[in-house]
Amino acid sequence: MASTTGDKDQYILLRDSSASSRLFGQHFIMTAKNGGWLLHPNVQATAEKSRARIADVATGNGVWAGEAALKYPDAQIVALDMSDKQYPPGWTMPKNLSFDTYNVLQAVPDKYIGYFDIVHIRLIAGGLKGPADYAVVTENVSKMLKPGGYIQWQDVYAPGWQIIDQTLSFDVDDETFPPFLAKFDEAVSGGITQTLSRGINHILKDNDDFADVEMMVPGVVPWLLKYETDYLAISFAELVKGSRGTRAVGEESLRLLDEAEGLLQEYLGQGGLLTYKTMSVVARKDNGA
Ligand SMILES: C[S@@+](CC[C@H](N)C(=O)[O-])C[C@H]1O[C@@H](n2cnc3c(N)ncnc32)[C@H](O)[C@@H]1O
Repeated sequence: MASTTGDKDQYILLRDSSASSRLFGQHFIMTAKNGGWLLHPNVQATAEKSRARIADVATGNGVWAGEAALKYPDAQIVALDMSDKQYPPGWTMPKNLSFDTYNVLQAVPDKYIGYFDIVHIRLIAGGLKGPADYAVVTENVSKMLKPGGYIQWQDVYAPGWQIIDQTLSFDVDDETFPPFLAKFDEAVSGGITQTLSRGINHILKDNDDFADVEMMVPGVVPWLLKYETDYLAISFAELVKGSRGTRAVGEESLRLLDEAEGLLQEYLGQGGLLTYKTMSVVARKDNGA
């Protein structure tokens, strides 16, 4: 399938087979960390009603959308991404799932205005540049939803990458960048600091279109930690590879990228473990009642 966009957009990760395979494994780790649900308990009754329309914005390779289509066979799922490069052939997927392309920073196509009962978004942060982009996504999702519909947005809770020791716990409020990520941020001149947020719940609370905002930060699942660490190492390698000559240009920046990679390898070489701190936020589009 021809790609509708090249890789020269502002997405900071990659879209090759290795990246897609990472998304596949990561999906099951994230679902397990959420307690097994694809949709938060507040949203499930809406998903189960007959012919519910569910969008998966920034679907990537569509793995969440594929599982959602199987779990909610009476729902119509529409998987949307700015790039179709990672999409599976449509004929291999459940019949109640379709794929389309849409950059959610751009105007909502007429056909999707007020169309969805649920809009799900997961891990779009790598395509957003700062608070203004987060606000545009929120506005556009509001336009896509029917009154009374739900947004579920799970994304990085900055700084995301979190070092874990044998206490098997982390401080939710700890915003310290691990050394390798701090070095990467230096190499890309603060690019990662701008991209990562911990304010999705505040953006939704401040937006009059939404009510009943709830947020959770999934904790550590000890037996998954090594596997999660492996995926995070692949993800970091993607970040570094995708930044060479794009976000990190010049001898000094490239040297800092090498140092960042070295710091992570040193930590992993000592048996170090990582988890990914995310926030899952659910809110209802207020019907003005
Ligand atoms: C880390 S992947 C996550 C994929 C999927 N949501 C998941 O959790 O497995 C991020 C995806 O967001 C997409 N993306 C980034 N910015 C976007 C935008 N403005 N509009 C639509 N998709 C976007 C990228 O193309 C990429 O496929």
